[in-house]
Amino acid sequence: MKGIVFTEFLELVEEKFGLEMVDRIISSSKLESEGIYTSVGTYSFSEMLQLLQHLSENTGVSIDNLLLVYAEHFFSVIEKSYPGLLATYKDPIEMISSIENHIHVEVRKIYPDAELPTFEVIEKTENSLIMDYKSSRAMHHFGLGLMNKTFEHFNSTATIELEKIKEDGTQVRFIINKN
Ligand code: HEM
Repeated sequence: MKGIVFTEFLELVEEKFGLEMVDRIISSSKLESEGIYTSVGTYSFSEMLQLLQHLSENTGVSIDNLLLVYAEHFFSVIEKSYPGLLATYKDPIEMISSIENHIHVEVRKIYPDAELPTFEVIEKTENSLIMDYKSSRAMHHFGLGLMNKTFEHFNSTATIELEKIKEDGTQVRFIINKN
């Protein structure tokens, strides 16, 4: 997992819960990095999982909800860092259905060792999209948060339902309907 995902995460934890919480979740985890991340480095996903688990235990917020809120923050990082990529799109459904074949393809050019999910478009109309998410990291709520913000970015809203195809969340169907 790329360092930018860790650095932005810890910044948000500091902003929402304070520096003491950052220290607490780092010191209660077993981290090869010792909690020192650079945005271009690459770190084990198990480090993110431990940080999320400890934050969840300390705050009572579920890991899914933490990932949802974090993704909404991460979208603003994307807006700032990759304005050109977003400017390619005029419509949220067009953008979301292009993650697999365009957006994450470009991400991989910037970060060859990025660990990305796969998205398969099942059905697409002008106002709706059914898309299957697959990833061993089960970060579907991170995807949900990014999708919510994608609609907001285009001054639009949508109803997004998640249907677990696999109980462990490694395969999830997104059913998206523009409002
Ligand atoms: C992960 C970039 C749009 C879904 C990531 C990562 C980056 C990235 C850097 C982390 C990779 C790693 O840590 O190794 C971008 C950029 C985007 C974009 C620059 C837009 C310009 C989206 C959108 C979605 C999405 C709209 C909506 C579904 C995900 C998910 C992950 C991810 C779910 C977590 C990894 C996993 O589940 O395996 N993306 N992304 N991305 N991205 Fe994107």
